[in-house]
Amino acid sequence: MRTTVGWRADAGDTLRRVPLERRDLRADDVAVRVDYCGVCHTDLHALHGRDGRPLVPGHEFTGVVTEVGPGVTRFAAGDAVAVGNIVDSCGVCRMCLLGQENFCYEFPTLTYDGTDRHDGSTTLGGYSREYVVREGFAYPLPSGLDPAAAAPLLCAGITVWEPLRALGVGPGTRVAVAGLGGLGHLAVKFAVALGAETTVVSRTPDKAEDARRLGAHDLLVSTDEGQLAAARDRFDVLIDTIAVEHDLGPYLRLVAMDGTLSQVGYLGGIAVETMSLLAGRKKLSSAGSGGRAETAAMLEFCAEHGVTADIELVPSSKVNEALERLSRNDVRYRFVLDLSDLS
Ligand SMILES: NC(=O)c1ccc[n+]([C@@H]2O[C@H](COP(=O)([O-])OP(=O)(O)OC[C@H]3O[C@@H](n4cnc5c(N)ncnc54)[C@H](OP(=O)(O)O)[C@@H]3O)[C@@H](O)[C@H]2O)c1
Ligand SMILES: [Zn+2]
Ligand SMILES: [Zn+2]
Repeated sequence: MRTTVGWRADAGDTLRRVPLERRDLRADDVAVRVDYCGVCHTDLHALHGRDGRPLVPGHEFTGVVTEVGPGVTRFAAGDAVAVGNIVDSCGVCRMCLLGQENFCYEFPTLTYDGTDRHDGSTTLGGYSREYVVREGFAYPLPSGLDPAAAAPLLCAGITVWEPLRALGVGPGTRVAVAGLGGLGHLAVKFAVALGAETTVVSRTPDKAEDARRLGAHDLLVSTDEGQLAAARDRFDVLIDTIAVEHDLGPYLRLVAMDGTLSQVGYLGGIAVETMSLLAGRKKLSSAGSGGRAETAAMLEFCAEHGVTADIELVPSSKVNEALERLSRNDVRYRFVLDLSDLS
C-alpha cells in the first residue's frame, strides 16, 4: 500500500486530517497528486446521511499524474488530469458499451464511499493529497483551463451538462435553472454558451445581479407567486438543482408544452401530481454524472468557451468551515480546497 494524507470523518461529521492508504498501482492505474478538489453538496448529504462509518469525501478534483502502471497508454507522469464522481464501471453492459458508464447496470464505482470492483475496499475521495484511479476514468485537463476553477466541472458541471445536451439545448431553446448554487451556476454558463435564452429561478433575490453576470437574461424569485404566474409554460427545459426535497408543482407550471423538467438536485422519492404533467404533456426526467466520452467533450467545450466555476479557493485545513458555510448557502458558487497544505 501507499500512504497519503487526507480529511476523514469518523464517528461525527467533523473531518480530521489523518494518514490514508492508497492501493499499489495496478497495470492500468495512474497515481494523481490531488491539487484542487471541489466541495459538492453531495459531500454534505453523505456526511450527514451515513451510519457513522468513516468517510473521505471529494469527487471533483484536478491534479497531476505522478506515476503510471505498466499498462497505461494515455498518460505519463507530469500530465494534468481531472477526475470526477465515478472511477470504474463493468465495461461490458449495454450502458457501458453505449458510453454511459454513469448508468452501468452493475452500478459504477463511486469515487468515495463506493466499493472497488477488484478488492472490495471502500473508496476514499479526493479530500486527500493522492488518489489512485484507472486511467480510463481520468481525463486530460485542457491546458487553457485554470485547474482550481475546473475541478467543479467534474461533478457539478457534468451533472448538468449531460441533460442539457441530451435535451438538445441550443439557440432558440428557453432554459430555466432552479437553484443558483454549484450545479446551478454551471448550468447557467453552459446553457448561455450553448446559445439558449436562460433564466434563473431562485429563492434568493440578491443573486439577480450574479445571474445576469453569468449570462442569464432574468431571475425569477421562486417565492413571488406573481412572477411565477407570469412565467407559466415559458421554458422548454428546466434544470432543477435545488438541494432539498420540494414540491415540483410550481416548477412544472413553468415548463412549456412537451417540455422537460430534469430533476438533478434532490434525489429520492417525490410525489408528483399527474395533472401537472398531463396539462401540457410535460416530461419529468433526471440525470447524474456522465459517461466518459461526454465528460471529455464537456472539458473540450469548456476550454473552447472559457467556462469554469466561480470559486472560493480555501486551504484544505478550512474544509469544515467550508462545509458549514455551504450548508448555509454562503458560497458563490463553489468552494474548492487547495490540498497543497497536506504535503
Ligand atoms: N444528480 C447528481 O448526480 C448530482 C450531482 C451533484 C449534486 N447533486 C445534488 O444536487 C443538489 C445541488 O448541489 P450543489 O452542490 O449545487 O448545492 P448548492 O451549491 O448548495 O446549491 C443548491 C442551491 O439550491 C437552492 N436551495 C438550497 N436549499 C434550498 C431550500 N431549502 N429551498 C429552496 N432552495 C434551496 C439554493 O439556490 P437559491 O439560493 O438560488 O434558491 C442553493 O444555492 C444537491 O442535493 C446535490 O446532492 C446531484
Ligand atoms: Zn458532486
Ligand atoms: Zn456496465
